[in-house]
Amino acid sequence: MRDAAPTTVFLSDYTPFGYLVDSVHLTFDLAPHATRVTSRIAFRPNPQARDRRFFLHGEGLTLIRAAIDGTAISPEITDAGLTADAPDAPFTWECEVEIDPGTNTALEGLYMSPLDVQGESQPDTSAMYCTQCEAEGFRKITYYPDRPDVMSIFTVRINGDLPVLLSNGNPVDRGEGWAEWHDPWPKPAYLFALVAGDLVAQSDSFTTVSGRSVELNLWVRPGDEHKCAFGMQALKKAMKWDEDTYGREYDLDVFNIVAVDDFNMGAMENKGLNVFNSSCVLASPDTSTDMNFERIEAIIAHEYFHNWTGNRITCRDWFQLCLKEGLTVFRDSQFTSDMRSAPVKRIHDVIELRARQFPEDTGPLSHPVRPESFQEINNFYTATVYEKGAEVIGMLKRLVGDAAYAEALDLYFARHDGQACTIEDWLKVFEDVTGRDLGQFKRWYSQSGTPRLSVEEAFDNGTYTLTFTQSTDPTPGQPDKAPQAIPIALGLLGPNGDEVLPTQVLEMTEVTQSFTFEGLAAHPVPSILRDFSAPVILDRAPQSAERAFLLAHDTDPFNRWEAGRDLARQCLIDMIAKGAEPDADYLDGIRAVLRDDRLDPAYRALMLGLPGQSQLAGFLHEAGVTPDPMAIWSAVERLKDAQAGALGDLLGELYNSAQVTGPYAPDAAQSGKRALAGAILDLTTRRDGGTQAAAQYAAADNMTLQLSALACLLRAGKGQDQLARFYDQWQADRLVIDKWFSLQIAEAAPKDAAQIARALTDHADFTWKTPNRFRAVFGALAGNHAGFHAASGAAYELLADWLIRLDPLNPQTTARMCSAFQTWRRYDADRRALIGAQLDRIAATSDLSRDTAEMITRIKGA
Ligand code: PHE
Ligand code: ZN
Repeated sequence: MRDAAPTTVFLSDYTPFGYLVDSVHLTFDLAPHATRVTSRIAFRPNPQARDRRFFLHGEGLTLIRAAIDGTAISPEITDAGLTADAPDAPFTWECEVEIDPGTNTALEGLYMSPLDVQGESQPDTSAMYCTQCEAEGFRKITYYPDRPDVMSIFTVRINGDLPVLLSNGNPVDRGEGWAEWHDPWPKPAYLFALVAGDLVAQSDSFTTVSGRSVELNLWVRPGDEHKCAFGMQALKKAMKWDEDTYGREYDLDVFNIVAVDDFNMGAMENKGLNVFNSSCVLASPDTSTDMNFERIEAIIAHEYFHNWTGNRITCRDWFQLCLKEGLTVFRDSQFTSDMRSAPVKRIHDVIELRARQFPEDTGPLSHPVRPESFQEINNFYTATVYEKGAEVIGMLKRLVGDAAYAEALDLYFARHDGQACTIEDWLKVFEDVTGRDLGQFKRWYSQSGTPRLSVEEAFDNGTYTLTFTQSTDPTPGQPDKAPQAIPIALGLLGPNGDEVLPTQVLEMTEVTQSFTFEGLAAHPVPSILRDFSAPVILDRAPQSAERAFLLAHDTDPFNRWEAGRDLARQCLIDMIAKGAEPDADYLDGIRAVLRDDRLDPAYRALMLGLPGQSQLAGFLHEAGVTPDPMAIWSAVERLKDAQAGALGDLLGELYNSAQVTGPYAPDAAQSGKRALAGAILDLTTRRDGGTQAAAQYAAADNMTLQLSALACLLRAGKGQDQLARFYDQWQADRLVIDKWFSLQIAEAAPKDAAQIARALTDHADFTWKTPNRFRAVFGALAGNHAGFHAASGAAYELLADWLIRLDPLNPQTTARMCSAFQTWRRYDADRRALIGAQLDRIAATSDLSRDTAEMITRIKGA
């Protein structure tokens, strides 16, 4: 069934549902192609609502019977749901539907994993049932008011002959072939979950601050038991941290996590039954990299933290998505900073923000943190809602201070527990606690686009003046921009490198605003936007000498890194646009940083990083230069070679100093060393042709070292033997084979990338219906900037072919992958024509999903 004509939903059209739901009883009779779902729901008129139309969402359901207060009815049914005559008084709704989880490839609602059993009349016993209901998946399970402001208490009975039968809340009872669950906390339907399968658990327990014991289970397929220990530890750390930091205690007797291979996103915070993409929870040293471990720890914490920020307090409607996501991302960043290194986490976050959110916000997909309209909500689980949403919370905290932030959060939990809320509710607690008017600050939620901040300085007689000017370019639907409230964290350094003004937060509210500092002995060097205090683009062209000075002396670790990054960027731009040579100040600066062994190895590794090639294309485009992907690629290669030359005599020593002795641990200290070793190995490979990388590969006893060595070899045009052996070694491990697919595309020379990707789509293991495998290939292809933009257009065509093929099966994953084309207007006329033709071809596909149609229309723009 395909979607009808697209309809747009508007924030301003919100009205409450006509009925409240007092309780929901669900019974599932599981069968691969004919699952019966029986519901008994207690409705009562909603005194807050005027409209009493009784419409229940429902998609792809076969109605068996429906009754109101025991009397059978024949409701009017459309593609979107059913309408019935309901009394203006409390009543009981009963309904039975049939669904087909065994052919559900969209992975919304109830589905089965693995997908390769699909279509078979009796999937093998290793197949599991799983649900995904956010945002609007519950309507594919039964008829229901599937909107987050309708909250209710669920009791669930599962009948099925699988050994493990799980749902939300606490277990009530179970017997042979059935289990019953009850969730005492009112929740919206998007937090409903059911899992059934032949699963095994790693179990543990956690005693909450008030002394209650909670049973913890991490459920996996048999064979994956050895990949659970780290996730379980991460969960316990997150539970403790949320008690210590936010005073939030867990509220059920059990907490279940399930790993599933087929999943559209990272993970899902269903109440008491989190479901995870197996790539975001399963970990072992021999199969997972340090980055995987760090990410898993963060995602486990993120989903756990949703128990309060998302579940106990949820969203009134999907426009408020950032209410739960921005806050929960902010909370998981705080957690990672506390568990690991705060500066390193901040730098990682800003790298990600610039790589993913900035292009979104400066391109055709730009939208506010709280969008005002959408066609398909699945298309708004974006870097803007999540990551910029988290930045907005960080700014708020910086503006009100830590104490007021803590008080406001306490008030938020006390005032809104059990409610479905809005951004207005959220800001009101801050206004009530601080007495501040947050009217202007609220613009961060409604105005899209990344503000630019330019700076002028003056020094006269001991008085130093900084004048900032802000502007935001027009974005789709928003031609005129108003000034934002921007917290600018600033420090001043004296000429000898001493800090003469420690960090303070300037509050900018006007278009242009000056700040003066008196009693300075000499013209200071400003360190602006410390810790990246606002998600803006700092438009400032200081001399490279000043950046080199900050790289050497800044006390703010973020800005010290940023100084190196700015130097690298400027140097690359000059190399690309003016044919300049690599900048000596930059190379001297990083040499000094790299040999400073008081600095954290992870931090030194970050100092060797360069801006991404896509980002460089963005800078060139903004500067009025049409980016040439091959020229960018070769400049980056030359600068890497120059780094290798500048560090030449130090490379061996640095590599040795970054070796870890003793058993593997995925902690910050060890992974920092391995990150540095990996960055150094990349440079060494440029000088020794891969000798050291081959040695590291041969000796590697963990995935981080194995993969970093293989990446270096492939980048050097070598490593085909190792690649083949890698496959043989890991062919039984789905998650490692994802890495095998993506690495060879990510590290391919630009001219080969599309061809390698195409060949891999013919590989027997290219199980493309599984989102992880699809993304392994096409995410890597889109991320190989020069390869993706190869002049032939082969990569564009390959991606479009596969998007067209995946769309009827999995619209959500297809639509997300369309964003590979979002920056297309930056490029030259030939590339624009090639991409434009592919966008047109996708758009012209018959029966295109609403998800993909909306994305393509927006990307094409006016
Ligand atoms: N709510 C999930 C999270 O942020 C993300 C998600 C959205 C998962 C939609 C599945 C579907 O943790
Ligand atoms: Zn989330």
